Amino acid sequence: MSNTASASRKILVTSALPYANGSIHLGHLLEYIQTDIWVRFQKSRGHECHYVCADDAHGTAIMLRAEQEGISAEALIERVSKEHQADFATFGVAFDNYHSTHSEENRYFSELIYTRLRDRGHIATRDIEQMYDPVKGLFLADRFIKGTCPRCKTRDQYGDNCEACGATYTPAELIDPVSAISGATPEVRSSTHYFFKLPDFADFLKDWTRGGHVQIQIGNKLQEWFESGLNEWDISRDAPYFGFEIPDAPGKYFYVWLDAPIGYLASFKHLCDRIGIDFDSYWKKDSEAEIYHFIGKDIVYFHALFWPAMLHGADFRTPTAVNCHGFVTVNGAKMSKSRGTFIKAATYAEHLNPEYLRYYFAAKLTSRVDDLDLNLEDFAARVNADLVGKVVNIASRCAGFVKKLGDGRLTAHCAEPELLARFIAAGDAIAEDFETREFGRAVRKIMELADEANTYIADKEPWVLAKQEGREREVLEICSVGINLFRQLMVYLAPVVPAMAEQARRFLELSSLDWHSRHEVLLDHAIAKFKPLMTRVERDRIDAMIEASKEDLVEEQKLKEAVKGPLADDPIAEQIAFDDFAKVDLRIARIAKAEYVEGADKLLQLTLDLGGESRNVFAGIRSAYAPEALEGRLTVMVANLAPRKMRFGVSEGMVLAAGNDEGIYLLSPDSGAEPGQRVR
Ligand code: MSP
Ligand code: ZN
Repeated sequence: MSNTASASRKILVTSALPYANGSIHLGHLLEYIQTDIWVRFQKSRGHECHYVCADDAHGTAIMLRAEQEGISAEALIERVSKEHQADFATFGVAFDNYHSTHSEENRYFSELIYTRLRDRGHIATRDIEQMYDPVKGLFLADRFIKGTCPRCKTRDQYGDNCEACGATYTPAELIDPVSAISGATPEVRSSTHYFFKLPDFADFLKDWTRGGHVQIQIGNKLQEWFESGLNEWDISRDAPYFGFEIPDAPGKYFYVWLDAPIGYLASFKHLCDRIGIDFDSYWKKDSEAEIYHFIGKDIVYFHALFWPAMLHGADFRTPTAVNCHGFVTVNGAKMSKSRGTFIKAATYAEHLNPEYLRYYFAAKLTSRVDDLDLNLEDFAARVNADLVGKVVNIASRCAGFVKKLGDGRLTAHCAEPELLARFIAAGDAIAEDFETREFGRAVRKIMELADEANTYIADKEPWVLAKQEGREREVLEICSVGINLFRQLMVYLAPVVPAMAEQARRFLELSSLDWHSRHEVLLDHAIAKFKPLMTRVERDRIDAMIEASKEDLVEEQKLKEAVKGPLADDPIAEQIAFDDFAKVDLRIARIAKAEYVEGADKLLQLTLDLGGESRNVFAGIRSAYAPEALEGRLTVMVANLAPRKMRFGVSEGMVLAAGNDEGIYLLSPDSGAEPGQRVR
């Protein structure tokens, strides 16, 4: 599949469409930066490459948000689209087209794909029973229903699973269910829904999955899904809904996830109409163009099952590959609003240079689906050492001498043709790494070259020679080599740090830093006055960013309260006798091991050390802690809770944590406490 050296390719690239009801944050940016680097690399290589995206504008959440703000859904998505596009521009994410799923192109393709599927017998209808909010006049998705857990009786749990005990259930099983939107008691009502018959495509999808279109890790996941069986997919929602009405079904709307991926076609069509590209040459069945979707690991099901099946069933070609990445963690833990590590793109950019982040993400990205940790210490150290200390340093050491001794002109003769030839040749392997999304490996190779360039200059000591009579020519030759080496590095780094590369291009007085341009060595070539290309990351700017992110949370909280009234906290429970309390055996426990639980997105499995005795506990704290961050920590546990059988195994106790919707805070003892000690 990798034909990097071949003639011009036709490539269409997409990133997932961000929801139109929230701000872009650093987690999102991993994806858009990864995609943008890949696209810039393809363009640098001279390929015809188009990068399109759009806002994902439909659905209940957006409808309700607009209502809360007292504006129309159209006004909301218009405003958010502007914000999103401004954020992307700030981070150098250069879409060729940014559209919306609430667009005529998208309505056209949604209807087209739906009717083709329907006419070929891939749509079914049947009545389903669902919770209905009689006050709002709205069917309620599970996450909009709250109630008391039928198993452990914890209050205020969402419609499908309990955060306290991990039980899963249907909303109908909740005790005293209420609508999270109006507070009304929901009723069960029946309505007709439309289904996409995914099982019709089981064989096709199995073949497709094995055809090299997904990463190995994803292929394994899909295999599991095939084994547990594919289900028909509910693609309709009842009015009121912000979306497209289904053509032959008045009052029924396409579920947001049906028309979201179709938004890729819509945005591309919009681009085609704008600049005159032949849409069909990309999307017709036997097209030779390449199509890539970059997505996060949470939306694989939609992109690797529903989407190829829909396309295939409606006579469009399927993607060349779905490229999936992992999630961003900050300092080893899930991004957290209360810790100030839920950082919005705009907040970051107020404090730090966006190119630092592009570089850091690139340096840590692989082609795999693993999560990526943004460790803020490491971030500062790495950017300072590499970009500022290594790369910029080469130019800043050489530029002054070229100005002074060569009147701003590089020598006409290259003093180190072999060294330079090696730098040029290294571009082929680096290109292969970019092509295969091994950005970390590419960056490593580029930094090795930067080390070599610095060593060359350090060994030659032009600043020492410059003080000696009659050696000016030599100094100028060394520095001309240095500038040429710097130029090679900037060609390789340009997809990663485009703004810095643009400054370098102007300094070098070149018309382009495209991949191929590097073959021409700069001889007898004038360069401009050197201006510092990048400054160091300042530690206090990072701290200020974290503080500002905490303030973002306070602002959001105020907004919520203004709309809903103060969030009610749990009232103090009724009194108990001392003996009742004494029955609870609280102990200090050391978290010896913490792991994710396959199939449970709220739970972590903890192995607790009670000073000799070991306990297995499932705790609903995954949203707040990465497993690595917990290992070794002391906490408090209820040691005599009767063991409970859960879907994933037996839980032998409970750890203590404070918390509400905004965060979970595990209790820790003061230093000195020992595992196994009794807590009173
Ligand atoms: N609207 C859907 C996508 C529809 S695509 C036809 C959606 N939107 S999203 O705004 O929630 O996410 C957009 C992309 O950002 C997704 O690919 C998602 O995986 C990615 N990320 C969101 N949070 C992320 C992290 N914390 N880390 C890495 N990527 C993350 O899903
Ligand atoms: Zn429960």
